Amino acid sequence: MRVETIGDATLYLGDCMEILPTLAKVDAVITDPPYGIGASAGTGKYGRQKIEATADLRWDEAVPPPSDLALVLAAGDRAVLFGGNYFELRPTRNYLIWDKGAGFKGRDFAECELAWCSWDGNARVLTYDPLARGDYREKVHPTQKPVAVMAWAIQHAGHAPVILDPYMGSGTTGVAALQLGRSFIGIEREAKYFDSACKRIEQAANQGQLFEPAAPKPQQEALL
Ligand SMILES: C[S@@+](CC[C@H](N)C(=O)[O-])C[C@H]1O[C@@H](n2cnc3c(N)ncnc32)[C@H](O)[C@@H]1O
Repeated sequence: MRVETIGDATLYLGDCMEILPTLAKVDAVITDPPYGIGASAGTGKYGRQKIEATADLRWDEAVPPPSDLALVLAAGDRAVLFGGNYFELRPTRNYLIWDKGAGFKGRDFAECELAWCSWDGNARVLTYDPLARGDYREKVHPTQKPVAVMAWAIQHAGHAPVILDPYMGSGTTGVAALQLGRSFIGIEREAKYFDSACKRIEQAANQGQLFEPAAPKPQQEALL
């Protein structure tokens, strides 16, 4: 195991199933676990070429078993799990729906992604086209999320000073957390993605906070 401390981020190179039991509970787990779709992601006219050119997707051959996800959920007061439609989770109305916009319409990749939230609330939609925004010009992970999407998920979790991503990949959640002025704990078991995460998070730490943190929401009186 390797541990790097970069600004307000602590990054672990290792298996989250071994590291999570050693950590204190955090405010929010915001994460994007393997979906178990591996080489079938993006297969077809547009997708396969791109995936084969850029990716080794062996880590995505299976979804984490329910016992692993239970450990992940127990690590935070709240949790947002991207790929929520791939896992066995209790039903909820609180989904985040990332609509990938015009650039993904009719292609061999999903047109949207669903993030399952552990608390009750209304479903929300963000339309954000990473191709139009040029997000993937600097793509260092085959399933890299846009920073704006992970920032939206962090803000949806409300007042959460400490954010944990146990399936950190290239560190996108960490970049978003630092830009929002939060502390971050990340875990990744593939050294090449861990190294990319360290670089990206270091850049974000040097840049400092870009957005105002969301103020804690006042308790609303019952309407009925
Ligand atoms: C879907 S990717 C996350 C991509 C990330 N959201 C990004 O923007 O780069 C999931 C990551 O989890 C890592 N992973 C899978 N199982 C793991 C485990 N048990 N412990 C730590 N990392 C794991 C994989 O290596 C992969 O990089």
